Amino acid sequence: MSNQDLDQPDFDQIDFFRATALYQDPYPYYEYLRAHGPVWREPHRGVVMVTGFEEVMSVYNNAEVFSSCNTVAGPWTKFPVPLEGDDISAIIEEHRDTLPFSDQLPSFDPPKHTEQRGLLMRLITPKRLKENEEFMWRLADRQIDEFIARGTCEFIRDYANPFTLLVIADLLGVPESEHDAFRQELQEDKRAHEPDAGERRGPVSHKPLEFLYDRFTAYIEECRRSPRADVMTGLATATFTDGSMPPVRDVALIAANLFSAGGETTARLLGSAMQLIGERPDLQELLRAEPTASRISSRRHCGSKARSRASSDCRGSPRRSGPSTSRRART
Ligand code: HEM
Repeated sequence: MSNQDLDQPDFDQIDFFRATALYQDPYPYYEYLRAHGPVWREPHRGVVMVTGFEEVMSVYNNAEVFSSCNTVAGPWTKFPVPLEGDDISAIIEEHRDTLPFSDQLPSFDPPKHTEQRGLLMRLITPKRLKENEEFMWRLADRQIDEFIARGTCEFIRDYANPFTLLVIADLLGVPESEHDAFRQELQEDKRAHEPDAGERRGPVSHKPLEFLYDRFTAYIEECRRSPRADVMTGLATATFTDGSMPPVRDVALIAANLFSAGGETTARLLGSAMQLIGERPDLQELLRAEPTASRISSRRHCGSKARSRASSDCRGSPRRSGPSTSRRART
């Protein structure tokens, strides 16, 4: 189905993974999905769409049966061999390193996932989040200062992207003196406006993850050599639960994953929030009358994360093929 046909959509014809116009307003399609019951294999790609809350949670929480190996690329994940048999665990383990984003935390399964997640959770403590929130308030003003005199801005490029990027940098303890370098390297939009951007933005020249791995590898090696009383040293010296020290690259990967997992999602959330505020005068009035309401509303957004996660996992596809007692790949 083409995007133009979406005025009167025939959902049977829609390939969800290709219907870009649908993503502007996917809710009627979600109703169509739900009408097929809580678990339904869609016909275009054979992806199991899980829309029931209980069903989503039982897939999500059952790492014995379902794998996250294809979680990032979903139906575009291609195994080099056919997925045959009732239990495909051995095939997954043999080939998972060939899959896209296989070195990123969301693609891991236990026990590796549990170990690496443990490292991450050592960082995200209530104290760190409080400090990070204080940075956010300072940064919000600083970010607005960049365009307030102009009287106009392109919200995602001028505010949401750099704001999100620098909040994550602060969370990880990247020194403020390095923040500009991070913006230069990681903000593609910014680079697109530079004169020679066309030459440098190709897949070879623009490698944000490589930049992050290299930068964090250097930070972590330095902090392990000369520990200081700072967040980066905490990241560099965090150990697995058995007390062993993770390889430097593992820690650099986790740091890089926070940027890739948190960046676009949050920038889009801010964009949607701004659109809603623009469309709803009652929200504008509320925010003007009670400036602290913005704090409350951002906390409510955090609370909706669990629901977002659940619904985005609806694109399930088999880790082990076969009956429910065998392992399947989550999409
Ligand atoms: C609106 C904002 C966000 C949304 C909608 C969102 C959504 C998600 C979803 C759906 C997953 C699960 C992926 C899967 O299991 O297949 C996930 C995982 C993850 N997210 Fe977010 N996310 C957001 C913001 C962030 C931020 C700000 C950070 C960090 C700074 C972050 C870090 C992570 C990490 C590290 C994982 C992997 C967790 C794991 O595998 O244990 N996310 N996110």
